[in-house]
Amino acid sequence: MTQAMTLAANHDAATTAELDARAKAILRGNDRGGYTVPTEGLYPYQWNWDSAFAAWGFAAFDLDRAWVELETLFSGQWANGMVPHILFHREDAGYFPGPDVWGAGETIPSSGISQPPVAATMARAIFERDPQAGAPRMAPLYDKLLAWHRWFYQHRCESGACCITHPWESGRDNAPDWDGALKGIDTSNVGPYTRRDTSHVNPDMRPTKRDYDCYITLVQFGRACDWDEAEILANSPFRVADPTMTFILLRAHRDLKWLGTTLGHDTTEIDGWIAELEAGVESLWNDDVGVYDARDLRSGELAGSPSNASFLCWYAGVSSPKTEARLARILSKVTYGVPSYDPEGPLFDHMRYWRGPVWGMMNTMIGMGLADAGLTDLATQVRDDTAALIADHGFAEYFSPLDGTPAGGGTFTWTAAVWLGWASPSAQKGA
Ligand code: GLC
Repeated sequence: MTQAMTLAANHDAATTAELDARAKAILRGNDRGGYTVPTEGLYPYQWNWDSAFAAWGFAAFDLDRAWVELETLFSGQWANGMVPHILFHREDAGYFPGPDVWGAGETIPSSGISQPPVAATMARAIFERDPQAGAPRMAPLYDKLLAWHRWFYQHRCESGACCITHPWESGRDNAPDWDGALKGIDTSNVGPYTRRDTSHVNPDMRPTKRDYDCYITLVQFGRACDWDEAEILANSPFRVADPTMTFILLRAHRDLKWLGTTLGHDTTEIDGWIAELEAGVESLWNDDVGVYDARDLRSGELAGSPSNASFLCWYAGVSSPKTEARLARILSKVTYGVPSYDPEGPLFDHMRYWRGPVWGMMNTMIGMGLADAGLTDLATQVRDDTAALIADHGFAEYFSPLDGTPAGGGTFTWTAAVWLGWASPSAQKGA
């Protein structure tokens, strides 16, 4: 039994009820009326994959509110099918870069990029809680999800892997996966700007100034292209195939196909997308490092980054015995798995955002995949680690995998959601 599992075992039912109540209060507290902010202050808008997790968390106690969350997210969908990574429902001066910098959005001001498509998977989970009540909500949402997935196929899939055109699109903003591809970006014309993230939380836990200059330069580039996908793909200084996107999209296609079949639709188009990703995903395997890796599509080079994205393979229905051994080894090196970067890797930084810390929602997808693959011991370990982490250190944005120190924003929506949907002993009873 790991230290984290012992801690988890010590939590009694009263503590579970208390934690469940805190998690619900966090979701209610971050509810801005139809959508949930990730956390007060640091992230004051609707974020795409955060919202999909929020919907799933709400489903544990308020199914109607769960559907509303997804419906609001898709109300910002572009005509080309894209669902933006941020919807700026209401202006907030405490956030940078805001709607004036992105210059994008159709029905609602938005960012110009997307985020990992967990929504179909969460929609299926919500639907399955009560198919009869869910059917009238699911039917219109299905068409919107299908259009979004088609957008991914048309504008982000290349040789069977899904790429990103901005590190923020991956949801793993400053992961070492992007370091190589960002190196060549000329940031000399970025101009003056004021970051807001470092006024909310400790700068040592956030991306560096050079990272941020690259992020803003890429936003400026997209805007100069008027967010035209063809032009961005052809000329952007950044285009990287991403294991997070590829695995999450593959899983989401499978869940969308299930929904389509259940609703009586022809899903042949989705079958084609699934086949292409299944065949292409191995192009991300890096045999030297022993992980599914990011690949710079401009240079063809693999990043050599042992990140937790590799452990999403089972979530996508891809089996990988070598990856099982790697995960078991990493879990033995930390108190709370799964760290976002291998603790034995050269760039491990236990408190800096996506360069070492552990994230509850990544653990959820990894754990769900392990359970689906029948890898019960590893699945249990990941879930128990996550439960202990939250029980002992609260509902923070992310945590040190070494000692659980909470970092980033506190009272975080997706941490509360994954507690309610998966990590809490009460969710496990219901599972
Ligand atoms: C950060 C995370 C991203 C998340 C957003 C809001 O940018 O890297 O994954 O969606 O915050 O929580």
